[in-house]
Amino acid sequence: MANLLEGKIALITGCGSGIGRATAIAFAREGSIVTCADVDQAGGEATVKSIIEAKGKAEFVRADVTDPAQVQALIARIAKSHGRLDCAFNNAGIEGDLIESHETTERNFDRVMGVNVKGVWVCMKHEITQMLKNGGGAIVNTASVAGLVGFAGLSIYVASKHAVVGLTKSAAVEYAQAGIRVNAVCPGPVDTPMMERIGSNEGGPTRKDFEAIVPMRRYALPQEIANNVVWLCSNQASYVTGVALPVDGGLYAT
Ligand SMILES: NC(=O)c1ccc[n+]([C@@H]2O[C@H](COP(=O)([O-])OP(=O)(O)OC[C@H]3O[C@@H](n4cnc5c(N)ncnc54)[C@H](O)[C@@H]3O)[C@@H](O)[C@H]2O)c1
Repeated sequence: MANLLEGKIALITGCGSGIGRATAIAFAREGSIVTCADVDQAGGEATVKSIIEAKGKAEFVRADVTDPAQVQALIARIAKSHGRLDCAFNNAGIEGDLIESHETTERNFDRVMGVNVKGVWVCMKHEITQMLKNGGGAIVNTASVAGLVGFAGLSIYVASKHAVVGLTKSAAVEYAQAGIRVNAVCPGPVDTPMMERIGSNEGGPTRKDFEAIVPMRRYALPQEIANNVVWLCSNQASYVTGVALPVDGGLYAT
């Protein structure tokens, strides 16, 4: 791929680690000017540093996606600096507790739904408001294969990712005529700090167990998710909207 996102003004949340970092780097390589947002200042700044070292364009803004005021200020800042927002990757997410349904807590429910669902909703709300002023745009949300099927021990996370798919499909239908495309990526296990945490949970499934259920028998590299987000945000995907795209080594097909 080369210059698929030339001159596009992009926002990526959860850019301080894993999939978000790889996607920010891929966007910048494709010619996009990237605003990288995260609650993790050090991680986000490290992502921006590696983009700038590779002669890309990016800036870091500390923002918590669960706080509507911070998200609104983030989008306003992008609009002020660049006059528009072309692409948004709503990727910030947390796994929460690995625990069976009857033992999960209200705190876990509120935390996971807060970041994974409210966070995506708040970001979409303000991104779409700006994109309507632009006359169009492309949004990609990070759902998961856990947004398509159930997984033991992760019920709240699974519910949150199903909700992300629902938000994605509804917005795709609502804004199709306004030139705003809205899609989701649904990764299987990806080699990131999140999956490292999940795979090292005492008594829970290990990396080997997760690899065994993936037909390709391996984790994805974060770049393998990033490549699909680049494509979905590019004009190559100009007729693609409302899709929840598994990027999962065949897992959803099993
Ligand atoms: N790793 C996987 O196997 C996998 C599979 C499917 C889906 N996902 C999803 O991909 C996304 C990225 O996951 P990852 O594996 O790169 O995880 P990660 O933990 O490596 O990175 C997540 C990033 O999101 C940030 N973040 C968390 N809460 C935030 C908030 N309130 N506001 C702003 N930023 C916040 C974190 O600081 C971190 O930098 C998540 O939505 C996750 O659910 C991951």
